[in-house]
Amino acid sequence: MSEDQDDTHFNIKVKNILFRNPIALAPMGGITDSRFANERANAAGLVILGGYNMDTATQKAASDMVARDREEFLSERPLELISNEIESVKEGPVVGINIRSSSPGPLIEAGELLYRKGAILELDAHCRQEEMTGVGAGQALLNELPKLCEWIGQIKATGVVLSVKVRANVVDDIELIRMVEAAGADILHLDAMKEGSGADLKLIKEIRDSTGMFLICNNSVNNLKSAKDMFARGADMVSVARGVIQDPGLVAGLVRDIVAQQHEMGWYNAPKHICRGEGDLRGLTFCCLPVKPCPLHHNISKLGYTTKDFADTKIDFARGTMLEYGDSTCFGSLVWCCKISKPCFLRDGVLQTLGVSDAEYMRLKKELADHIILRSRHQLNDQEK
Ligand SMILES: Cc1cc2nc3c(=O)[nH]c(=O)nc-3n(C[C@H](O)[C@H](O)[C@H](O)COP(=O)(O)O)c2cc1C
Ligand code: SF4
Ligand code: SF4
Repeated sequence: MSEDQDDTHFNIKVKNILFRNPIALAPMGGITDSRFANERANAAGLVILGGYNMDTATQKAASDMVARDREEFLSERPLELISNEIESVKEGPVVGINIRSSSPGPLIEAGELLYRKGAILELDAHCRQEEMTGVGAGQALLNELPKLCEWIGQIKATGVVLSVKVRANVVDDIELIRMVEAAGADILHLDAMKEGSGADLKLIKEIRDSTGMFLICNNSVNNLKSAKDMFARGADMVSVARGVIQDPGLVAGLVRDIVAQQHEMGWYNAPKHICRGEGDLRGLTFCCLPVKPCPLHHNISKLGYTTKDFADTKIDFARGTMLEYGDSTCFGSLVWCCKISKPCFLRDGVLQTLGVSDAEYMRLKKELADHIILRSRHQLNDQEK
């Protein structure tokens, strides 16, 4: 196995499922089947097939959509179709199945099947075609959050790893994701669409700061730059749909580029610095010693940290690691140092003396970011008790 194919290289995991890279094929009804995935996305970390219509109401809706020339997968035996499709995907990517239903029973049956097959179930709360929303499926679920959450709980009881696919800017997104997370979903698959202006990057950052769920983002990604814009705001994975129709080599190219970046930088979805308001809270790992008025203070207060708590958390983490060193840096230790992409001869000199690579430095900064966020969650939970 080459290092690029090594599932542990990125260390991206949801429950028992390990992804070999953070690029996914997004579902497109009538298009994204095993053949399409094998031909165009075998290099991906995840391929999501579907959407499939699980009950008579959604099957009728799909037939009506086909009658007006929209492509859809039509089958009266969707479980059998899904089972065969999973078997037909060539080895490599994890398989996800995007499904729609107007009632929870068929979703639970699918959950049992997909759990046995080691595949991810993705609940489509995204489709906005009138035929689908008219029977209470797809995006209609966003207007019935208690029902959506009840279904999530029922599907999760099968043990399957569950993704919920939603479109941004339809309802209050922060309220939505908090409810979806509390109901037990493992993954939020966010179409970050903002009507008339491509992907809503600011919203991705806000969502990252509001949830611990694994976050897959998409909309209009067609090159490394557009994928990196999402990674830097906190996407754990980026998915592509229309871009793959236009460019059959898109997935392979994105995988090649992000693997190269991971080798070089050690943290494929490293956040931006928080100074200019673009970085999510993980960016606190790159923050200075809190000695001056700046955006740090507002951001640590969101996590429930006082200035002293925050400084102590970073210092405690650094103890015994190479982040402790760096007398010659601005604040006397690498724990306060900037992202590797910011040129700095002081930091780089220390790294060179220690014999630490850029990637190792960034991996440790990632661990520190995870520690800052996790510790604050424990702290906030304790405060609530
Ligand atoms: C033709 C077509 C069919 C789609 N069908 C589905 C679907 O069945 N289920 C779903 O959750 N999303 C569906 N989507 C949405 C895509 O998964 C994706 O979120 C959206 O196209 C934005 O990503 P993109 O800019 O990479 O295309 C569909 C999109 C297209 C273009
Ligand atoms: S602490 Fe430093 S890096 Fe962080 S927001 Fe303030 S000035 Fe920017
Ligand atoms: S020494 Fe360089 S990397 Fe470290 S805080 Fe100062 S400017 Fe940033």
